[in-house]
This record gives sequence, C-alpha cells and structure tokens, in this order.
Amino acid sequence: MGRDVFYITTPIYYPNDVPHIGHGYTSVAADFLARYHRLRGEEVLFLTGTDEHGLNIQRRAEAAGIDPQAWVDEMAPRWKEVWAGLDIAYDDYIRTTEPRHEKAVQRLLTAVHENGRDDIYLGTYEGLYCVSCEAYYTEDELVDGMCPIHGRPVERMVEENYFFRLSAYAVRLLEHYETHPKAVQPETRRNEVLSLIRGGLQDFSISRTNFRWGIPLPWDPNHVCYVWFDALTNYITAAGYGTDEERFARVWPADVHLIGKDILRFHAVYWPAMLMAGGVEPPDQVWAHGFLTVGGQKMSKTNATGIHPFELTEHFGVDSYRYYFMREIQFGQDGSFSWESMVDRHNADLANGLGNLASRILAMLGSSFDGVVPEPGAQGVEDDLPALIADVGRRYDEHMSELALSQALAAVWEVVGRANGYLVERQPWNVAKDEARRAELAAILYASAETLRILAILIGPIMPGAAQRLWDQLGIEQPLDAQRLPSAAAWGGLPPGTKTAKGDALFPRLDS
Ligand code: MSP
Repeated sequence: MGRDVFYITTPIYYPNDVPHIGHGYTSVAADFLARYHRLRGEEVLFLTGTDEHGLNIQRRAEAAGIDPQAWVDEMAPRWKEVWAGLDIAYDDYIRTTEPRHEKAVQRLLTAVHENGRDDIYLGTYEGLYCVSCEAYYTEDELVDGMCPIHGRPVERMVEENYFFRLSAYAVRLLEHYETHPKAVQPETRRNEVLSLIRGGLQDFSISRTNFRWGIPLPWDPNHVCYVWFDALTNYITAAGYGTDEERFARVWPADVHLIGKDILRFHAVYWPAMLMAGGVEPPDQVWAHGFLTVGGQKMSKTNATGIHPFELTEHFGVDSYRYYFMREIQFGQDGSFSWESMVDRHNADLANGLGNLASRILAMLGSSFDGVVPEPGAQGVEDDLPALIADVGRRYDEHMSELALSQALAAVWEVVGRANGYLVERQPWNVAKDEARRAELAAILYASAETLRILAILIGPIMPGAAQRLWDQLGIEQPLDAQRLPSAAAWGGLPPGTKTAKGDALFPRLDS
C-alpha cells in the first residue's frame, strides 16, 4: 500500500483553455499542501498536468491547420508558464499524450475487460452531445435547447460504444464509503456522492468511433478511449501503473485527489468503480473545493469572466496572491473575488501585519545590536509567545490535515498579531534608551527575532518567496528548505550571534 509517499494530485487541465484564476485556485491549494507535507519531512509526489485527447482538441487543431500532437505541444507550455509564475512546485507533470499514459490506460482497460464479469460491453448510444463538454445531455437538461454550460447548440449523435458497467458497483461503492468515512470530503460532498449512488447508477460509455484523437482500445482499435477512462487514469500512470510496479506499490493509493466540485461525480463514483473493476485500490480521499465566482457564477473562459493569474500577480506579487485565495475563502465553499478585498487583505495581514512586524524587529536589532542576535538572557521576558507558538503549531497541523486551509493561516496570523502586541507592551524602543536595561532589551529582541524565525518557517508553504526573503534578512546559516516541522518550530532555535540585515519591505503597502 502506498503509504510511503504523500501523493497529491490536481485535475489535469484542458490545454485548449487559457488558464484563469479558477484553475490557479486548485493548483495553489495543492501546492500549499504539498509544501506543507515536505516541510514535515514527508516524501511528496505532487502531480499536475494536461488532458490532451478528445474531439474538442482534434477540432481546435484542425481549425489551426496542424495535427493534434503539434497543437497540444504548443499549448502545454502555456500552462507550465503559469504554474512557474505561481510558484507551483509540482514533482511530475503528466501529459496524457505521453507513451507511459497510453500504456497505463490500455493496461487498466484490459484488466477491466478481462475481469470475467463482463464489465465492459458493446452497446449503442444515441444522445444530444455538446462538443465543448464532451458530454451527452438529456432534453430536459438543456437550457433553451442549448448546452447548459456553454450555451451552444448540441448535436444528435448515434454510435456504437463500449460501456462500463457502473450499475454493478453501487453496493461496493456504498460499502467503501461506509468503511472509509473520510474518502470524500468535505461532508456535504460526501453526502452528495452517497445520494448519487443510492439514486441508482447508469453505465457510461467509454469509447468513440467518431474521432481518432485518443488512445485505441486494446481489443478493438477502431474505437478510441473516451474521456474518463483516459483522463482519470493519469493518476495511476504517474504512480507507475503499467510501467513500474515497484514504484506503484510505494506510491498508490493517492492520499488526496484535490478537485473542483464540478468533477466530483467522475472522481468519487466513476473512478473508484473503475479501479475496483481493474483490481486496483481506490484513492484514499477525493476532496472537492468550491468555485471562484464572478457575479455569483463560476468563473470561466466561456462566460468571459476568466481573469489570467498574471493580471493579479503583477500588481500584488505571487505571495500575496497565494495568501489571499487561501485565506479569504473557506476551502470547500464558493468564494467571490474582488480587487478591493485583495488590497485590504494585502495591507492588513501582510504589509501592516507580518511585514511591519519584521521591519520593526530587524530595524531595532540593527540600531541596538548592530544587527547581531543577542543572547536570550533573562527568562520570562518572552511572555506568552512560546506557549502561543506551540499551541498554534498544533492547530496548524490539525487544520492542514483536514484541509481547513484558511483556518491554518488564521492560526499563524494569531502569532503575527500577538507579536505586534508584544512589541507595543514591551516597548523595546523605550527600553533601548536606558543603558541599565540592556539585558531586558536583549531578551525582548531575542524573543521577537525568534518569533520571526518560526513565522518564516510556518509561512513557507503558502508564501515560499516571502519566507525566503525573511529568512535571508534574518541571516540564519542553515537553509530554510532544510527546516523540518515540528522540531524547527520549537522555541529557542535561533542561534545568538546570527547576523541579521534589514532589507526591503517584505510587502509594500498598496493603494486601494
Ligand atoms: N480535464 C478535466 C479534469 C480531468 S481530471 C482527471 C477538467 N479540466 S478543467 O481544466 O476544466 O478544470 C480543471 C480544474 O479547475 C477543476 O478542478 C475545476 O473545478 C477547476 N476550476 C475551473 N474553474 C474554476 C473556478 N471558477 N473555480 C474553482 N475551480 C475551478 O475538468
């Protein structure tokens, strides 16, 4: 069982689309979690990638007058650029057009096809099809005769398809979710999934003959594999399924598939059933977050509400961007984005909060001790800071383990608030005027700088750039990325004698 590695995935994105901050939302959350687990000293596999097959892609390539492979080769780097700009440190980037993926898909299909239960069978499909969704709709799902998502005309299609016998898996799925209560989260999504399953499951089509841009079915290459058997399988491909069984045993099952709620059914109903049929364990957890909304609607390219992440990072910086979305929105719920609230968060929590704290402390160390961290000296002067930090460390872990990402950050910012309050109470700028209170001043500034050190470690997963800049200003010899929780956050780790150097403001204030 894959318990050796913390394995986290995002969905694979359609490379046709231009990335917007809705896509960025899934990826930033996954990166925040992945970095947190690395900070805990765990081996992490963080997977993202692009979903490169299908009629939609084939048509876009035709329109561009190039073959589909050339088209996706052109598109995939655009996504990688965005992830680089958002400091998304994935360990593996999968493209479903890679040979390793073709192998895995064919292997899973074969395993299901040959499982002796007739779980894949040939049937005919007739329905109303939206090319953009790559999905069929029933009459009453249409809005004014158009696709409910894209508002575009649907096409009547009749074809011979292979089907997957999802209907045979209801009981096993319910059993699985009863014995694994955390396998779908949050709780509202779990309930949704349970009622979907209880409502009755229909077999779904897994192949197409009306286009070629896909992975051929091993037993009938006139058919190409259609959407979900191709896309979902990426998660086991990257773990080594079909190519490296030893690695697969170490990595799989995934700890968490992080997704948006629109693709919950596929991840929490189709996917575990497909795996069961193929003799593979289901993932430990599917965690479905909400939507970034604009005017109450899901932000998307098709309704022209997609904002490119770089439009925001240019103004706010990538750290502030990452912090805002993870702090402002309760992870799991929908959330709206506004420029004003982003400016407010930036100024309150970052510029006036953490940034101001760091600059005050580093300035005082500079003026009173030539920047050199003094001995902690007198006990007790640190007040409740060590106890608060220990408590926050525990709560941070708890929240991260439940993906209560906003609460985790709120807990860390309790330390920021308390440390700013500590300075106001202890008044080091006044203490510094009295030569007789030198030991007290040393103790206050040691406690303050030690708090900054721990903060730099705790904010690393959400704001890797700012954490590093703060660490550099603190002048600590050991590298930041060698720090490991929980030991690195234990009080007293800052070596006296460390040469700090106040630098540029961590977060310049923004005009609203
Ligand atoms: N290719 C499929 C997923 C296959 S996974 C095996 C797909 N791709 S997508 O590019 O359309 O969406 C990828 C992810 O972005 C999904 O998790 C989706 O929920 C998320 N988001 C897209 N728009 C979003 C918002 N406006 N808000 C939050 N997340 C959003 O679906």
